[in-house]
Amino acid sequence: MITIPDNSSDKTIAKLPPKSGGNKFLQTINVILNPVSSLEKSQKRYGDIYLADFSSLPSQIVLSNVQAIEALFTADAKILESGSGSAIVEPLIGPNSLILLDGDRHLQQRKLLMPPFHGERMRAYGQIIRDITQQVTNQWTVGGNFVARSSMQDISLQVILRAVFGLKEGERYQQIKEVLTQMLDTFNSPLSAVFLFFKSLQRDLGAWSPWGKFIRRRQQLNELIYQEIRERRHHPESQGDDILSLLLSARDENGEEMTDVELRDELMTMLFAGHETTAIALAWALYWIHYIPEVREKLLQELNSIDVANADPSVITQLPYLNAVCSETLRIYPVVFFSLPRILKAPMQFMGYDLPKGTMLSVCTYLTHHRPDIYPESKRFRPERFLERQFSPYEFLPFGGGNRRCIGSAFALFEMKLVLATILSNYSLELLDTVPLKPVRRGIAFAPNGGVNLKVKDKFSR
Ligand code: HEM
Repeated sequence: MITIPDNSSDKTIAKLPPKSGGNKFLQTINVILNPVSSLEKSQKRYGDIYLADFSSLPSQIVLSNVQAIEALFTADAKILESGSGSAIVEPLIGPNSLILLDGDRHLQQRKLLMPPFHGERMRAYGQIIRDITQQVTNQWTVGGNFVARSSMQDISLQVILRAVFGLKEGERYQQIKEVLTQMLDTFNSPLSAVFLFFKSLQRDLGAWSPWGKFIRRRQQLNELIYQEIRERRHHPESQGDDILSLLLSARDENGEEMTDVELRDELMTMLFAGHETTAIALAWALYWIHYIPEVREKLLQELNSIDVANADPSVITQLPYLNAVCSETLRIYPVVFFSLPRILKAPMQFMGYDLPKGTMLSVCTYLTHHRPDIYPESKRFRPERFLERQFSPYEFLPFGGGNRRCIGSAFALFEMKLVLATILSNYSLELLDTVPLKPVRRGIAFAPNGGVNLKVKDKFSR
């Protein structure tokens, strides 16, 4: 569906998709603060391929058309780039992050980072994930309340610090946990997320100003990460099967090792991309499971058929209804509403439009996941839809697609299933939120409003 015109020059644009009208600034604020309604309105008005015109952010073509998504995700990676379109996250992850790289360097880093998140390497974390879940949930008291998003973040952060950094309990582990949580909390409200989108607001006006606070926390975190890197370089005998060990031993085609700054950026990328996303997905799952009693009952029936604490992780991850619940959770409110943007490196014919070089295309996961032709009654949480039919990777895409598809997707699903199975087989919980929860922005992700408030009704003795 994508072709590069033979006689392409940057002359007049023959045809562009319909452009969203109205005040650019208001559109930008609306998509940051009220993403669901503003995206739905635009799709209704302009269709499933439209040009969104923002202030401060580049204009971009928003796609929720399945053929267009397939064309984009299967296009030759050489004619698209992504890094420059994700500059918004650079202050968090640094310029050497996989997310910001393109071309050969991107491919090379992906090859290095993918294997530890799959197969045997990943399965080795099965027991660690169950142990961490037990440890965190042991702090819950019967009759007491907790906020699911915070508890799940506690679990997913510990999992990633073990799997990626190879850190065990200790002072540095505690410090990194604390500083990272505070740093990410800088953007925890929809309004503070505005700082990420407007460069002009990113000014250090002292330790109490929002950006100043963020910079100081980032500095603290950098120091802790550099200390760990230096220590590990000087003690090669302490290398394990974590990702930092793998990166420390990696050499490029010239035999060069990664620099401390490159290592820091990749570690930050995995911390940033990997733990809060998984925690939010888990919080949504706990919400839906306890919001719809039949879903919980069906899930408990399935879990009661196995010994969750001792089963091989693959027995848990292959449970069909648990898989359907996780998929439906990631469909109805995807943790990230958009894939990373793709930018054309040359003029292109795309779905009948002539797009100039530099055009930015963004796949909107949220809108695609609510197409009535693919997902009837899309606002209903109905895991059965994943048992009744298979969806193509261009219809169901919580982890994006093509050459930038999330490298942690298998790991995230593995973790989600083990954590949910462990919690549900040990605790009886009750949802305290009485109104339906909506997604609100946390940095670039969308989390349940209020974090999902739950009460511990009972703890089963096993
Ligand atoms: C439920 C949890 C998660 C969700 C919903 C999620 C979602 C996504 C999405 C939508 C993308 C963009 C893909 C694209 O543009 O095509 C992405 C990229 C990425 N994710 Fe995840 N992710 C999750 C967990 C993780 C984990 C656990 C890790 C690793 C520790 C991770 C690391 C990354 C990285 C490094 C990229 C950039 C890939 C590249 O640029 O080549 N993510 N993720």
